[in-house]
Amino acid sequence: MANVTFVTHDGENHEATLIEGTSLMRVAVDNAVPGIDGDCGGEAACGTCHVIVENGWTDVVGANDEVEEDMLAMNPEREPTSRLSCQMTARENWDGLTVRIPEFQL
Ligand code: FES
Repeated sequence: MANVTFVTHDGENHEATLIEGTSLMRVAVDNAVPGIDGDCGGEAACGTCHVIVENGWTDVVGANDEVEEDMLAMNPEREPTSRLSCQMTARENWDGLTVRIPEFQL
């Protein structure tokens, strides 16, 4: 079983179990992780599921596609390892993944 840790902007950790094939946004919402809203339901159209992937995990979780990149480009809190968690499909090899949640979502 793989687990992920979401770290809120004020340093609070929220652990959740990853479900293979489920988006990271859905995992966060289903576990009531604060700061991940997922307002568009996972269509890469709202930016309210922004997370920052911890260094060392970017190769494991993969890169943004063009649609995701366009949405992130509008976000003032974007960082080099930012992702839209709705566009991240959980894999078993993500066990131990940590992502940070910015203080504000778009
Ligand atoms: Fe809307 Fe991810 S849920 S962009």
